[in-house]
Amino acid sequence: MLSKMSSSFDVAIVGGCGHVGLPLGLALADCGLSVALYDVNEAAISVVNGGQMPFEEPGALPVLAAVLDAGRITATSERAAIRGAEHVVVVIGTPIDEHLNPDLNAVTEAIEEIGECLVDGQILVLRSTVYPGVTALVEQIVARRGLDVDVAFCPERIAEGKAMTELYELPQIVASRSPRALERAEKLFRNLTNQIVYLEPEEAELAKLFTNVWRYIKFASANQLYMMANDFGLDYERIRSALAFDYPRAADLPRAGFAAGPCLFKDTMQLAAFNNNNFQLGQASVMVNEGLPLYVVARLEQSVNLSKSTVGILGMSFKAESDDIRSSLSYKLKRILRFKAARVLTHDPYVRVDPDLLPLEQVVAESDLLIIGSPHSEYRELRTDTPIVDIWNLREQGVRI
Ligand SMILES: NC(=O)c1ccc[n+]([C@@H]2O[C@H](COP(=O)([O-])OP(=O)(O)OC[C@H]3O[C@@H](n4cnc5c(N)ncnc54)[C@H](O)[C@@H]3O)[C@@H](O)[C@H]2O)c1
Repeated sequence: MLSKMSSSFDVAIVGGCGHVGLPLGLALADCGLSVALYDVNEAAISVVNGGQMPFEEPGALPVLAAVLDAGRITATSERAAIRGAEHVVVVIGTPIDEHLNPDLNAVTEAIEEIGECLVDGQILVLRSTVYPGVTALVEQIVARRGLDVDVAFCPERIAEGKAMTELYELPQIVASRSPRALERAEKLFRNLTNQIVYLEPEEAELAKLFTNVWRYIKFASANQLYMMANDFGLDYERIRSALAFDYPRAADLPRAGFAAGPCLFKDTMQLAAFNNNNFQLGQASVMVNEGLPLYVVARLEQSVNLSKSTVGILGMSFKAESDDIRSSLSYKLKRILRFKAARVLTHDPYVRVDPDLLPLEQVVAESDLLIIGSPHSEYRELRTDTPIVDIWNLREQGVRI
């Protein structure tokens, strides 16, 4: 693929076929830049070069078609693409391990891997959500290699499913210790927005973690209040909507729901690790949010003989209208129910990677009880006599269990 195109690009994105890298590449190519999407996932590369998205992202497909047609984007596993790019944006995944520890070396190892393809005059833009201090480590790698390469940290703040609008709407945080790098990073992101916010690298690293952690704590607050109201025999959603009605100070109190996904939990763990594991509010939020599926099952056990019941879970992705199952609490719910219930059936209209999924009609017909795992709009109007547990209040019929 590379050989057919010019081997010089305005931007090379390392991790370019991922949930963040691909929309960013599309948006920049849409603005007229030439973009190489460098990735190690060969399957995703061929999907992208074939004009398809490897995951759901509303609005992305027509942009992909247009920029492929215009020859402004290519996905590749050839590192040479990086050598020919003025801007190298790194947006690989930064997950936590099985002990909930962040992998401090994920980004630096990727930079070492591509190190031989970095050349003087480039700017290296870190865009993954990183453990604080990673930008400084990358600066050291660049210096150790004797490279005249600028380094900036510009965190991605889009939410999956909204990337193709938010990339053009959200202000961009740009951070660097070098004025030249700051100017170049700003120029790159001015292709997307005129709103630029400047921070020091460590401030920006924390700003991104604080953003996700704040959201996670808000969801945990809502979920704890939900459980409290429910244990008291009251409907949290009736209380929430009443107290928020025309009362701006409480307007941001979320509904209850499974708060999970690839970012919020692991970024809360990253911040806890950064603070010597001293983050009571974050750790309490993990207990509340991750405990919600257990709570739901424990409450159901009080009124339903689960061991004789078939339970259907509707929605397996981590959030509505998404095909992303990473860290989805629907799967935790499924694991608990497989232990407790006679049978567990699952449905999701978006997820493509789970061979256990069944057609909606079958799940509804064969279940004694349905639980909404992710609030896909398709379930809002579902007609059935089977009881539905809906802690999200998707169907606006109350959230009590
Ligand atoms: N998903 C989101 O909504 C979101 C939003 C904001 C920020 N972030 C952050 O962005 C980063 C990326 O997240 P994501 O959800 O896009 O992850 P992802 O797993 O969807 O994408 C990462 C991509 O990087 C590729 N990759 C991994 N190692 C590589 C390497 N050494 N060289 C080249 N490519 C490599 C993978 O194949 C994958 O395509 C994370 O730090 C995440 O916290 C994610």
